[in-house]
Amino acid sequence: MSRGQPKAQNNLACLILAAGKGTRMYSARAKMLHPLLGVPLVSYPVERALELGASPIVVVLGFQRAEVEKALTARHGQATVTVVEQAEQKGTGHAAHLGLAALRRWEGTVLILYGDVPLLSRETLTALVKKSRSAGKLAILTAELADPHGYGRVIRDSQGRVVEVVEHKDASSEQLRITEVNAGIYAAPAAFLRQATARLSPRNAQGELYLTDIIAKAATGIGVASASVSAEEMAGINDRQRLVSVEKTLCRRIVGELGKHATFRDPEAVVVEAGITIDQDAEIGRNVVLRGRTRIGVGARIDDGCILTDTEVGAGAILLPYTVATEARIGPGAKVGPFAHLRPGTDLGPDVHVGNYVETKKTRLGRGSKANHLTYLGDTIIGEGVNVGAGTITCNYNGYEKRQTIIEDGAFIGSDTQLVAPVRVGKRAVVAAGATITEDIRDGALAITRAPLTQVDGYADRVAQRYANKAAPKR
Ligand code: UD1
Ligand code: CA
Repeated sequence: MSRGQPKAQNNLACLILAAGKGTRMYSARAKMLHPLLGVPLVSYPVERALELGASPIVVVLGFQRAEVEKALTARHGQATVTVVEQAEQKGTGHAAHLGLAALRRWEGTVLILYGDVPLLSRETLTALVKKSRSAGKLAILTAELADPHGYGRVIRDSQGRVVEVVEHKDASSEQLRITEVNAGIYAAPAAFLRQATARLSPRNAQGELYLTDIIAKAATGIGVASASVSAEEMAGINDRQRLVSVEKTLCRRIVGELGKHATFRDPEAVVVEAGITIDQDAEIGRNVVLRGRTRIGVGARIDDGCILTDTEVGAGAILLPYTVATEARIGPGAKVGPFAHLRPGTDLGPDVHVGNYVETKKTRLGRGSKANHLTYLGDTIIGEGVNVGAGTITCNYNGYEKRQTIIEDGAFIGSDTQLVAPVRVGKRAVVAAGATITEDIRDGALAITRAPLTQVDGYADRVAQRYANKAAPKR
């Protein structure tokens, strides 16, 4: 999800507050773990901090700390962030104070981000940091909201200078009419933040230590500078409705970008995660979902309802509707679906055809090979120019272990064949329909396991005669 290379910005540390449970999510899981377009919420501010070149990055965690830390390590590696624990959530001010303890010797600028505000752009944050630096002030982000309910209100004096921020629950009816709100994002000299957060008091409606109280302190000290941000960018995720609407916004941005050189038949009806690459002239149908590190090659066509996760689609390949693929590679010019299921380890060569109701797993098909109907191929290596007939099944599991099937170049597998692994079918060998193959087939040989067919002439009439005096059979 990084857009471009991180830009080194000297002397910038980042503090991310993410200890809250997220009560309004009504979830057993910490809010920070809820995925937003496939990425846990807590990762968004971390990625912004990385883009700004901030170091160190301190994340304050509390509720389900171990799980959130695990998610952070999985995404960003071991040493990227320093985790500080806030065992009891006594408020944003308390969280910031604990986090700053990990920056004890830090003398530069500190950028404070909230774990639940994921849409802030690099440009907005860069401008905020600049503002704090040039004036040596506390810089805050504010927004004009049509509906400011729930947010802290920005109080200014007659000259328009910021005096303080008052939380919704503490505001007078007059203050509640103010529509300029605090985005909860700050940049300030580390020394000021250490000092200001050391002496906060919980004398307020929620009995918490509010980080917002540092604004009044700065107003009578180092000074407050403010920068404005759009309502869309500052959106905080407090409930599931907001999670979903922010996900739509993010998705729209990504599709807007990719949609300049690829065609999205219905841009509103697709899910495209941030790590996706789509090359020129690709076509994406309705209700397509592209997740993880999926790559779509030049001129490939992904029809309606396909769901691709960490899958690579080669140039000019066609995925017919409702193909589901995970950790698969689809070669250039291949044709897949409708209703194909490509599971992890599938590797389709150039011009391969895999048709309806075909399932593949850990299976490679060489150039031009075909498996067009109703087939299961697991733990299989298939050469070039092989035809796999309808209803072919690799019996790859004996109840204890998975075993391999090999089908060499140019072989022909008749319909309704079972290949009982481990087994090998040689080059240009022909397996007759309905075979159960339990031993290796030699190159160029015909394998046939059919019981001999017998025909009994006049049978129908004889049976009819026998039953002539009884009731007619039900047909
Ligand atoms: C906060 C601001 C409010 C602002 C709004 C913008 C305060 C007191 N209020 O309110 O002025 O308009 O954000 O979105 O700061 N957290 C901790 N430890 C705690 C409490 C919170 O780490 O003890 C974290 C949460 O996980 C969350 C962030 O701090 O990521 C913000 O906390 P939240 O309770 O959502 O604050 P708001 O009520 O939204
Ligand atoms: Ca919030």
